Amino acid sequence: MEFSLTSDQEMIIKTARDFAQKKLKPVAAHCDETGNINKGNLKELGRLGFFSMVVPEEEGGAGMDYVTYAHCMIEFSKACASTAVILSVHNSLCLDIMRHFANDTHKKKYLDDMLTGKKIAAFSLTEPNAGSDATEISLNAKLDGDHYILNGTKCFVTNGDLADIYFVFGTVNKELGSKGTVCFLVEKGTPGFSIGKHEKKMGLKASPTTELIFENAKVPVANLIGEEGRGIKIALSILEGGRIGIAAQAIGIAEAAYEAAKSYSKERVQFKKPLCANQAIAFKLADMLTRIEAAKYLTYRAAWVKDQGKKPTLEASMAKLFASETAQFVTYEAVQIHGGYGYIVEYPVERYFRDARVTTIYEGTSEIQRIVISNNLLKN
Ligand code: CAA
Repeated sequence: MEFSLTSDQEMIIKTARDFAQKKLKPVAAHCDETGNINKGNLKELGRLGFFSMVVPEEEGGAGMDYVTYAHCMIEFSKACASTAVILSVHNSLCLDIMRHFANDTHKKKYLDDMLTGKKIAAFSLTEPNAGSDATEISLNAKLDGDHYILNGTKCFVTNGDLADIYFVFGTVNKELGSKGTVCFLVEKGTPGFSIGKHEKKMGLKASPTTELIFENAKVPVANLIGEEGRGIKIALSILEGGRIGIAAQAIGIAEAAYEAAKSYSKERVQFKKPLCANQAIAFKLADMLTRIEAAKYLTYRAAWVKDQGKKPTLEASMAKLFASETAQFVTYEAVQIHGGYGYIVEYPVERYFRDARVTTIYEGTSEIQRIVISNNLLKN
């Protein structure tokens, strides 16, 4: 694995960093407070190619490898973790489905608008009774002529009401277990399909999370992605790339918290010396940075494995597990170093702490990552 970056990679990452620091960071606290994403910034990100990061140039995308993608996601997450998850779901979940499982007709009809961010996409696997146990999904898809009729409710859908295109997982027959599962591309405006409850969350408040409701929703047979019986395999293989995006998101949040804590510890004077002159504080910073660096290399390694065209099942789960747990540790310590000031909204570490929390939960909890890791290591 090569650690150094090419000048092309450096240039793309610098573009992401500059945009994140100049445009995303100044409005992140306001977006968090109001619960609204800045749509102007999303448009601009589309114009700069960040809604097509993982798609090769010959297919109309920005043509980044996953290593570059991970670096960019770190930059965006440092500035605004809500914007970052919108990009992560669109790129590493939805565009990867388009690339690896959609047919030419789907691509012709939907890809161009997805690549510019004109149409944002959402990935909808979770249901009220099927979270970690994804094979329990029960959204019913019944074939009726040239349509499937969808009935059921999906929940915790990132990009919920922001999206125009939804990759929705269901089953044609629950008794068949994973062999009955299916994946559809559903367009906003499909009769019988509506947006349900808009969740009020602890963090990532500017990233919309909603229910999706299907009441005899008519989805054309042509919008089936892959074949009947392949739904869960599509979802779980796509989540491998997604977990690299979330690992990078966790690292970005952690890095922002670490930098804020380091700078605060140099400025804040107590007992007639800066906080960082106390070993108790300096050692915290040492542990924070060490874990962030370790998380980065696990994540770049997972990205590199994916770039080699290999399945990063094990590496992506290790990266997601370690990076998300690191984000908990680092944001906790960052609040601690800030003392009472870390607990009030004027200081961003309070937001970082809340934003980090979900990274050990979505795209597979830490417990699920340990299942994936242990299952894989015991195979050999
Ligand atoms: N790639 C391809 N196929 C895979 C796979 C992978 N990585 N992992 C499993 N499969 C296949 C299996 O081969 C199996 O296929 P067959 O039935 O044909 O044999 C099928 O999928 C089911 O797999 P398992 O038998 O291993 O299923 P399991 O129930 O024992 O456990 C699990 C699977 C690892 C626990 C899985 O359910 C899982 O990862 N759960 C977590 C779900 C998750 O991450 N949800 C996140 C929701 S999306 C989200 O959060 C997005 C967001 O908002 C940001």
